[in-house]
Amino acid sequence: MITAVFAQRKDALVERAVGPFTVRMTADRARTQVAIIGAGPAGLLLSHLLEREGVESVVVETRSREYVEARIRAGILESSTVELLDAVGLGERLHREGFEHRGIYLQWPGERHHLDFVDLVGRGVTVYGQTQVTKDLGRARDAAGQEFRYEVEDTQLHDLTTEHPYVTFTTGEGRPARIDADVVVGCDGSFGPSRTSVPASAARTWERTYPYSWLGVLADVAPSTDELIYAWHPDGFALHSMRSSTVSRLYLQVPPETDVADWPDDRIWAALGQRLGQGQGGWRLTPGPISEKSVLPMRSFVLAPMQYGRLFLAGDAAHIVPPTGAKGLNLAVADVALLAPALGRLLTTKDETLAEAYSESALRRVWRCTHFSWWMTTMLHTSGDPFDAQLQRSQLEWVARSEAGATGLAENYAGLPIGY
Ligand code: FAD
Ligand code: PHB
Repeated sequence: MITAVFAQRKDALVERAVGPFTVRMTADRARTQVAIIGAGPAGLLLSHLLEREGVESVVVETRSREYVEARIRAGILESSTVELLDAVGLGERLHREGFEHRGIYLQWPGERHHLDFVDLVGRGVTVYGQTQVTKDLGRARDAAGQEFRYEVEDTQLHDLTTEHPYVTFTTGEGRPARIDADVVVGCDGSFGPSRTSVPASAARTWERTYPYSWLGVLADVAPSTDELIYAWHPDGFALHSMRSSTVSRLYLQVPPETDVADWPDDRIWAALGQRLGQGQGGWRLTPGPISEKSVLPMRSFVLAPMQYGRLFLAGDAAHIVPPTGAKGLNLAVADVALLAPALGRLLTTKDETLAEAYSESALRRVWRCTHFSWWMTTMLHTSGDPFDAQLQRSQLEWVARSEAGATGLAENYAGLPIGY
């Protein structure tokens, strides 16, 4: 077992703005090999994989552990994500409590088609919430003695183009702190400081915002379907997903800036019933108590390269996909699966080859998933334009009726192998 060296030397000077003044204060100071910013799935899994490479790390997180573990987000694991979690000893509860799905239903008014990914490409997906993945990772890291710093503020990255980068922050108790490292990895999601520490002249970005959002709800009711339903409807897209045999997760396409207060539970269930095909072929949507409601904006974003000197980016810190293809969490896992051995090689043998190849290798998959998520999103969300609607209908029919069309969706949705 490797324990992070976290010497509490109070001899480092840090500068902090206090009102109009800059004051110099002593900081808690520590040293590790890899400073990981963010304890989401990317940061937690990276610390786990690094330990297996013989590399120590410290994870710095702005939220509390309880908040991170309760945050409702993704729910679908690709087969390669499951294989990786199995291979590193994290699959036990996942296999016990997760649901293996062979495929999805794709529907539009009057028609529902089952796409069987196992028949089409030989692999399916597993329904297991991101909250559960995060809890499993947290427990495994506790057992290994991982050093965490939760509830920190004002995280800043320094000297990234040297071999001695460091991270400063204010601890939960309000003390300035500093971690010196060989490498910093930004796993701090779409709003963290890592991405913005890369100067505009050193990277390129691509972005697309979509003219709709999702209203997502969690409901304490058994799912009304055995596998996920993706529904095109003239009123807007709807998705029926699930978390367990007693908890359903459902989404409705809504205009951007929608206020959840305008969507009382009755209105949500009526819209879901309408769009998901209540009564069609005898199918019924069972409503139940809604425990959580939120509006999610939809965006595609890619930053390249995913490296700047001794800073590496992984997960949402480097790229964001709209959730329609269920790719966000899986991409974060695929990034760190590439990055951990690359850092292992760099830090234990000083061989930089894999670390230098990380960005290009990761971006191949990132762009594949960016395209797939955009493709699913534009196929299923209504724009109000009748020409778009005809094209979408034609595309849906092709995917549902042609084996080539269905196989393309299945191969991307069930997931490409790690290292694609
Ligand atoms: P995150 O999970 O965002 O983790 C980043 C961590 O960094 C967070 O814990 C954050 O608190 C921390 N952090 C931020 N700033 C700092 C700082 N200054 N200092 C220290 N730490 C910091 N994907 C799907 O596939 N399906 C879905 O249904 C889905 N729903 C989503 C709903 C929401 C509201 C969001 C935001 C995302 C959703 N996603 C979904 C995407 C998916 O959850 C992400 O792709 C996944 O969480 C990426 O993991 P990550 O570890 O890269 O980033
Ligand atoms: C979810 O269960 O939250 C989920 C499933 C599939 C998606 C998006 C979200 O495409």
